[in-house]
Amino acid sequence: MLPVVVVHGGAGHIPKERAESSTSGVCSAARAGYAVLQGGGSSMDAVVEAVTQLENNPRFNAGCGSVLNVKGDVEMDAIVMDGKSLASGAVSAVRNIANPVQLARLVMDKTSHACLTAEGASQFARALGVPEVNQDSLITEYARMRWRNNLQPGANPVESQMGKMGTVGAVAVDSEGNVACATSTGGMLNKMEGRVGDTPCIGSGGYADNQSGAVSTTGHGEAIMKVTLARLILFHMEQGQSAEAASDLGLAYMRSRVEGLGGVITVDPQGQWAARFSSAQMSWAAAQSHTLHYGLYTGEHFTQSIQEPH
Ligand code: GLY
Repeated sequence: MLPVVVVHGGAGHIPKERAESSTSGVCSAARAGYAVLQGGGSSMDAVVEAVTQLENNPRFNAGCGSVLNVKGDVEMDAIVMDGKSLASGAVSAVRNIANPVQLARLVMDKTSHACLTAEGASQFARALGVPEVNQDSLITEYARMRWRNNLQPGANPVESQMGKMGTVGAVAVDSEGNVACATSTGGMLNKMEGRVGDTPCIGSGGYADNQSGAVSTTGHGEAIMKVTLARLILFHMEQGQSAEAASDLGLAYMRSRVEGLGGVITVDPQGQWAARFSSAQMSWAAAQSHTLHYGLYTGEHFTQSIQEPH
């Protein structure tokens, strides 16, 4: 079994001028997660660290950089899940928090619930001393520009979203063979206020079970929820499919059944991993055995690998 951390920076079409920063962002996050494993941290510690890095990077639609809802506000969703115990924590429609993934972990660790939403999630954060941040610190000029463009008559925010960038996530296997997943998002561009997507829903935005593996998803949340994409992929792995084949089967089903596009990162407890997508692109990176693999386009010839210093 080989410990591994795999991350994604969202499915969609990544504009040329953002390709390099997107790739360097996922590579840094995968390295950070892997460093946690090397330091003796658990797979849960590793995925939370990797996703925290992506939330702090304004290039991605999560944390700082989140897309805006129709009123121009930031409402974020996040989930974590631990494959050893099936413990899970999530937050939905949460505001004024820099790192929703860390709040999701606190929901898992400190409550008997699986998900806290909106003002209740904020009250919980306050009670635990999680700092509130000004909404403006989460909003980029790019997010404001896309919000404004999608207020125009005839705009199609769903198409526009798949034409840019999505959610972030990570999956990992640690040296004890425990798997974990974490996913975080600002959701869909110009969504209705209060809209909750797939990300905080167990089995849709992510799932982790030491008996099969872990998955983090990205793409059109309403489609992902209809097919419970993360759990569907693990079902195929339980039937004997590899991480890669199961990911492709899940994505193909979502496309044929509900015309949904997206992407996934998947690991099995032995450290086999996959980064697969039906969208035009998905930025992803995987760190394992002092090698960093990364890519943006479909096709093995587009995957790059570099040796990392020991
Ligand atoms: N997959 C992210 C969302 O639809 O909210």
